Amino acid sequence: MKKRDETMVRRLTRAASVALTLSGFAASAPAATASDAAPFSNATWQGEGLALITPFQQALVTTVTEAMQRGGPAEAVTTCQLVAPSIAAAHSTAGWRVGRTALRWRNAANAPDAWERQTLEAFAQRVTAGEPMETLVASAVVDGEFRLMKAIGTAPLCLNCHGEALSPGVARIIDEHYPDDQARGFQTGDLRGAFTLRRALPQE
Ligand code: HEC
Repeated sequence: MKKRDETMVRRLTRAASVALTLSGFAASAPAATASDAAPFSNATWQGEGLALITPFQQALVTTVTEAMQRGGPAEAVTTCQLVAPSIAAAHSTAGWRVGRTALRWRNAANAPDAWERQTLEAFAQRVTAGEPMETLVASAVVDGEFRLMKAIGTAPLCLNCHGEALSPGVARIIDEHYPDDQARGFQTGDLRGAFTLRRALPQE
């Protein structure tokens, strides 16, 4: 590993816990278990969805941090690309599908649909108005599905791959894997994107 990378890894490891706090990790609701047979309740489903976000986010941050320690930022970008979808799949349980989206995305597969775009724009306005990132949650029933989103802030850890001044090695590997990348140029505290969850409503 190059010296610059080693410094970055040390910084990242320190930053990981800050990242969790900043991006709302500590603020998630306690687990609630809605039985499949129970009638739909917005509050119950919202609680259940929010409880899925915590371990999903933790798995992502742990995976990226470990890959950084193992092989530096280039390794972490490759790992992130390879495992982010399977981490999302692993946390999609009991009828839920979990993922991430953003107005400025890195992977086109994460591009927002109409409801997500509208919600991200509303989150951005609320951030501008001074609302704390961890309070930004929205839910709705759209086309027979319960939809839930929770804002993701930008922490110092994230700047290594989403900031303004990427190291040349990181920039090169991101360009290689994501030629249409729009997810750089962020600063600490910016709205980076959102967790997005969906689940089919019970049949009438
Ligand atoms: C090691 C580099 C790296 C770090 C550090 C990193 N990311 Fe990413 N991020 C990526 C890559 C690569 C993707 C695309 C993953 C994929 O292909 O699904 C991504 C995707 C995302 C997405 C999904 C939307 C999109 O743009 O495709 C969000 C949201 C996101 N990152 C937020 C964050 C936040 C918040 C942090 C800090 C806590 C962070 N990232 C740290 C590399 C990184």
